[in-house]
Amino acid sequence: MIDLHCHLLPGVDDGPPDLEASLALARAAAGTGTRTIVATPHIDRRWGVEPADVPAAVDRVRAALQDAHVELEVRPGGEVDVARLAELTPDELDSVRLGGGPYVLLESPHATSRGAGFHTAVAQLCRRGERILLAHPERCPIFHRRPGDLADLVRAGALCSITSSALLGRFGGTVREFALRMLRDGLVHNVASDAHEAQRRGPELLAGLQAAERELPGLLRQADWLTRDVPAAVLSGGPLPPRPPLPSRRRRLRRPLRRSAA
Ligand SMILES: [Fe+2]
Repeated sequence: MIDLHCHLLPGVDDGPPDLEASLALARAAAGTGTRTIVATPHIDRRWGVEPADVPAAVDRVRAALQDAHVELEVRPGGEVDVARLAELTPDELDSVRLGGGPYVLLESPHATSRGAGFHTAVAQLCRRGERILLAHPERCPIFHRRPGDLADLVRAGALCSITSSALLGRFGGTVREFALRMLRDGLVHNVASDAHEAQRRGPELLAGLQAAERELPGLLRQADWLTRDVPAAVLSGGPLPPRPPLPSRRRRLRRPLRRSAA
């Protein structure tokens, strides 16, 4: 599997505090079947990570993994805040594109107050030809309020990456239900860990999908597509492979995520 969203770099954001903790996270990921991690530190005004510093930090983690005989490929990336993105030079943005490919992992805002204009900004980026992978839209209150906006952005070309543990209920019932509705409606392109450490916010990728089988029987048929095939296409910039269909037998979820009325 390929994990497109993981705070693996030590001491730069709210991920592992030191190299030892990064190695523990990497070992845990490798132990659950992940072969490639894109290291995605927060690129925002809060943490102040310089995009130009990311490749060298990735190199240091790679060297430590080699010394520790952990078989895991690590590639550079970033979880980019939309306001910070507007300030980056083209070279800075290139250094935090996922795995050196064309996609930007864009953070969906958690706070309603910071969400004003997010939909418009992402739509503009898509129109400009930016390839956008939205990080955890299932946790974004503005999409909970206006789910049709999220469907609009997917139609405009944005891809959606949900967090595995959201399907385990880690962020509450509303977020879990929203993630299930996204899966049902074909709005999810990737499941990532958004891991911050080995244990509490760990790197396991499949448990969430396994837990969602109850509501969406047959969902695990999409597991390879969500955790391997789409991520490979995101890294290479190639076309997305076709999504394996979900069987029609599903337990009842709320209404589909259609366009908002206003
Ligand atoms: Fe994250």
